[in-house]
Amino acid sequence: MGSHSFAPGSSALAVLACFLSVAVICNGGTTSPFVRKIWPSVDMPFDSDVFAAPTGHNAPQQVHITQGDHVGKGVIVSWVTPHEPGSNKVHYWSEKTGRKKHSENTVVKTYKYYNYTSGYIHHCTIKDLEPDTKYHYVVGSGHVRRQFWFVTPPEVGPDVPYTFGLIGDLGQTLDSNVTLTHYQQNPYNPKSVLFVGDLSYADDHPLHNNLRWDSWGRFVERSVAYQHWIWVSGNHEIDYCPEIGEYTPFKPYLHRYEIPYRESNSTSPLWYSIKRASAYIIVLSSYSAYAIYTPQYVWLQEELPKVNRSETPWLIVLMHTPLYNSYNYHYMEGESMRVVFEPWLVQYKVDVVFAGHVHAYERSERISNVAYNITNGLATPVSDPNAPVYITIGDGGNIEGLAKNMTEPQPEYSAFREASFGHAIFDIKNRTHAYYSWNRNNDGIATEADSLWFRNRYWDPVKESS
Ligand SMILES: [Fe+2]
Repeated sequence: MGSHSFAPGSSALAVLACFLSVAVICNGGTTSPFVRKIWPSVDMPFDSDVFAAPTGHNAPQQVHITQGDHVGKGVIVSWVTPHEPGSNKVHYWSEKTGRKKHSENTVVKTYKYYNYTSGYIHHCTIKDLEPDTKYHYVVGSGHVRRQFWFVTPPEVGPDVPYTFGLIGDLGQTLDSNVTLTHYQQNPYNPKSVLFVGDLSYADDHPLHNNLRWDSWGRFVERSVAYQHWIWVSGNHEIDYCPEIGEYTPFKPYLHRYEIPYRESNSTSPLWYSIKRASAYIIVLSSYSAYAIYTPQYVWLQEELPKVNRSETPWLIVLMHTPLYNSYNYHYMEGESMRVVFEPWLVQYKVDVVFAGHVHAYERSERISNVAYNITNGLATPVSDPNAPVYITIGDGGNIEGLAKNMTEPQPEYSAFREASFGHAIFDIKNRTHAYYSWNRNNDGIATEADSLWFRNRYWDPVKESS
C-alpha cells in the first residue's frame, strides 16, 4: 500500500470536479467547493507494506528525530527495539569531515497500557553539531545496524532562508499515506515538519490499541528519520481512559516522543519553544491548564518578551485547537484559550498561528477580537494589522474522515476554507517575506489550492494579498 493507482474514470471525474470548482464568494472570504475524497476513512491494515518492520532480530524501528536544544545544534534520535534494549549508542559523522563519533546519552523507556507492553523506547540526545551540515547516523549494531541521515538547520539569524512543512492530524489511513507522500514530493523541498498534533489515532481503536502507536511510528519513519519533526500534542495524545484503569494523560505520547522543553525553561514537554534558522517557534498545549497563574500561562508570559525579532524575525505559534474556526466541527473549542492568549499574540505581533484538530483547511484574515469584554457588545472580530494569520491544517487524512460542514455564511474573518486533505509549506525567504502555500491532495504534487506572501509583522507589516 505504498503506492496507489486511481480507479478507471477518476481522471474524467477530476476534470469535472475542476470544472465545477468555481469559488463561491460569500460576505466573508472564499469557500472552495472543491471536495474530492477517494479513500474510505479506515486505517491501513497492519500487514500493509508501510508498516513493515525492519528484518532481523530486535532491529531498531520507528526511528525519528526532533530538535534537541533551543537553537538547532542538537538532535534527539529516538528508536524502538521490540524484544530487548539492545545497543544504546548512536554512531554519527558529518559528511564534511567523516570523523566518527558516538553518543551514549540515551534514556530507555518502557510503559504498559492496559494489556499492552511497549518495546524499548530509546532517546539519544546529541549536542554541539555543526550548522547546515549533513550528518549520517547509525542505530542498532551488528546485523541489525540501520543507517540514516539528516541535515542540521543553518545558524540562527535574521535573514536565513528556511522552508518548513506543515502537517496535522495525520493518522494512518490511505489518505494519510497520500498526504505524507505529497509532503515528501513537495517541490519546495521543505526541511522539517511543524506537526500540529494528533499523531496515530490509536485511541480510536478498542482499548486504545497501542500497536497503532507502533505502526504509526513505522509509517512515518520514511520522513521523520531524515528530518526533524517538531511536535505538538493534540487530544488524540491524551489517552486518558479510566474505564480500563489508564489515568495518566499523555502516557504513550510522552514515552515515545522526547521534547527539549527544559532548553526553553518550560516545566512540561507539552509547551516549549525552539529557534530554527530565522524563526522562533512557540508550542502550546490546548489540553493543559492555561488560565492565569497556571504553569503554561506563566511560562508564555515570560517567554514572549524574550523573542528578539532582530535575531529571529518570524514568530510562529503552534497549537492543536484553532482559536478561529468557521467549521461546524469543534466550533469554538478554542474560545477559552483565545480569551486568555490572544491579547499577547497581538501585542507581540505573532506572524502566524498554525493549528489542527478540524479535519479540513482554513486560513483567516489578520483579525483580532481583543476589544470584546462580554459587556461591550464588540463580539465581532475586526481587521488588525498586528494580529496573526490563523491557519487550520488538521487535514492530514485520518480515520475520522473529512470535516465538510461549515458555518454559513462564511464569516468575514475567514479568508479561505476548503474541505480537502493536504499539507502546507512555510517558505521563509528573508526577514520580510515568506511564501506560504497549501497543497490539496488528489491534485498532483505541485497544485497549490491556497497561497499567501506573508509580510513579517515586525519588519514589514504591510497588508498581504493572496
Ligand atoms: Fe484533534
